[in-house]
Amino acid sequence: MKIFDPITINQLELKNRLVMPPMCMYQVFKKDGFVTDFHKSHYHARAMGEVGLIIVESTGVSSEGRISSYDLRIYSDDHITGLSELVKAAHTHGSKIAIQLNHAGRKSTSDDPVHYGPSAIRSYDYLDVPTELSIHEIKRIIQDFKMAAQRANKAGFDAFEIHGAHGYLIHQFLSPISNIREDEYGQNKLLFLQQIIEAIKSEFDKTLILRISADEFNTEGYDVNDMINYLREVEKDIDCIHVSSGGNVRPNKEIVVQPGYQVFLSDKIKNKLNTPTIAVGLLNTEEDIVNVLENDHADLVACGRELLRDSNLYLRIAKKYDRKDLIPKYYERAYR
Ligand SMILES: Cc1cc2nc3c(=O)[nH]c(=O)nc-3n(C[C@H](O)[C@H](O)[C@H](O)COP(=O)(O)O)c2cc1C
Repeated sequence: MKIFDPITINQLELKNRLVMPPMCMYQVFKKDGFVTDFHKSHYHARAMGEVGLIIVESTGVSSEGRISSYDLRIYSDDHITGLSELVKAAHTHGSKIAIQLNHAGRKSTSDDPVHYGPSAIRSYDYLDVPTELSIHEIKRIIQDFKMAAQRANKAGFDAFEIHGAHGYLIHQFLSPISNIREDEYGQNKLLFLQQIIEAIKSEFDKTLILRISADEFNTEGYDVNDMINYLREVEKDIDCIHVSSGGNVRPNKEIVVQPGYQVFLSDKIKNKLNTPTIAVGLLNTEEDIVNVLENDHADLVACGRELLRDSNLYLRIAKKYDRKDLIPKYYERAYR
């Protein structure tokens, strides 16, 4: 069964196909972006539960632009040591670990003095109208992504995930709803992402995952076919596509949020491109998780809230499909 099979993506060798997707835990109470004891236990527990790839929550690359004031950050060298402890914990149990690099742009709810966007258009009514980024600030943020990747590399992460989804800054640039600029970043809505990828890739060839909102489910926005055209342009530089959806504007197309509701997007992208995909979204049962892979809709499966409820989800799947040999010695008696 594929869920139990190893896979290699670029140089990243994973022992199985279960992914913990990035999930902000809002546990940085000092608002300084440093890893706390909470994060160490939280990620360590999923490594003990044999998750193949852990993707650490959205981590702010700039001195502004966190999703919230309580997020992890990586804009200073001082953040490296704490992050390296998460890496150590994952590696102790043979899990691989990536970090999600993000700038929240106009969707930031942090107490930063300024919230930027590609254009001065707010996302949701409860958020402020953002300050339109100057070309100079855009270039600075691209450098921030590059520096963040360097720091993540120093911390020992096995891979990086660029957050291009859920209405955060990169997604804001990609969407005609939030990007009405008249300069080159508006003419070519992919340019900001392309330059971030180039900046990171100029440093090293570490496995690069791109998280996308494949469809905005809004008649004014882009759809999955537009996204596939975007992806064709960057495909040569990315190793894996993490397929989510929405988050930039309220949908005005019908979407039924049900188990596996985003899997068709992963399937479509996987069929059109040659890059491995991660499917995500309400994949909570052993059957649903396994079937995504058996039916070739994706190469990996990410389970978010289910891994919050049960850090030993992988062991549950192993038991269900009679692979008790995969259960680590320390928990063996619980799965007999
Ligand atoms: C508490 C929480 C925090 C989240 N934070 C992030 C995040 O930091 N970055 C991100 O790309 N997605 C984030 N997400 C979305 C998840 O990665 C995932 O795509 C979503 O929960 C759907 O998967 P699930 O149904 O398996 O939970 C978050 C979700 C939850 C529940």
